[in-house]
Amino acid sequence: MNKKIIAANFKMNKTPAETQNYFNVFLELLGEEKFVDLNNKDKNKNSRKKLNLINSEIIFAPSFTSLLETYNRIKNYDGSVKIKLASQNVYYEKSGAYTGEISIRMIKECGCSYAIVGHSERRCIFNETDEMIGKKIKAVYDDSRNNNPDNHNNYNNDNNYNNNINAGVIPILCVGENLQTRKKGMESGFVSNQLDKALISLKARNIPALIVAYEPLWAIGTGVPIAPEDGETMHRFIYEHLNKNYKIEELRILYGGSVTETNIKPLVKKEHIDGVLVGGASLDPVVFFDIFKSFV
Ligand code: PGA
Repeated sequence: MNKKIIAANFKMNKTPAETQNYFNVFLELLGEEKFVDLNNKDKNKNSRKKLNLINSEIIFAPSFTSLLETYNRIKNYDGSVKIKLASQNVYYEKSGAYTGEISIRMIKECGCSYAIVGHSERRCIFNETDEMIGKKIKAVYDDSRNNNPDNHNNYNNDNNYNNNINAGVIPILCVGENLQTRKKGMESGFVSNQLDKALISLKARNIPALIVAYEPLWAIGTGVPIAPEDGETMHRFIYEHLNKNYKIEELRILYGGSVTETNIKPLVKKEHIDGVLVGGASLDPVVFFDIFKSFV
């Protein structure tokens, strides 16, 4: 059974000190005993909750300046839920005169197991093109293959915190249509085109692991998430498209856009929705913990 994923995208929020405060609260809430106390009255229920915890994974994507701070906090967490680190972006060149950019090696050394690629804010505000996103995806897989040619099993290795330099970073590839495109009923074609352009270098290659985040632009930060049935339709379409055209060993598809503790449950109950990517509602540790509780 694939792990269900709940990812937090802090965007351009939280200094290192604020990140530290966040994890003081969040990790305290996550402490197993407290978690059980908060949620369960009887023993049987406790054990069911624990099983669910084992099958879930939390990913935090703080700002670059808080990556190390976050890594230092989560690496010592030894509860049953897996907690991993993601960068919000990465550049495709290895090093050089690219002021303001960050390399794959840099994020790996900060402890990242994942990198968000092609978030709609990168596409819309910073003019990232499909071509650039394709180069980033290629660079991420080239890096893991070059550093670790025989061992793609290091993907998702639960103990890879000290190993990140040799392990592969898994991209969290964001796609999604705007309102106009959806109103015209052209969302499937739009999203499959984004996927194909991002994965253009991987047609004939084996892809050990990929996370896609389907985030319709009209749902991001608007308070209006997709209806679960529409989400399921789109996620099933993405699954079918990718399975038909690519060789992906471990594929998971997250939904993102105005996820809160009140709407997460019906979304993640859907067969093809493997988890969520949460923006605004992840910024308060108590609120994000509530979302996590509704999720497991
Ligand atoms: P939101 O953002 O949860 O604030 O809508 C989601 C995202 O942009 O990843």
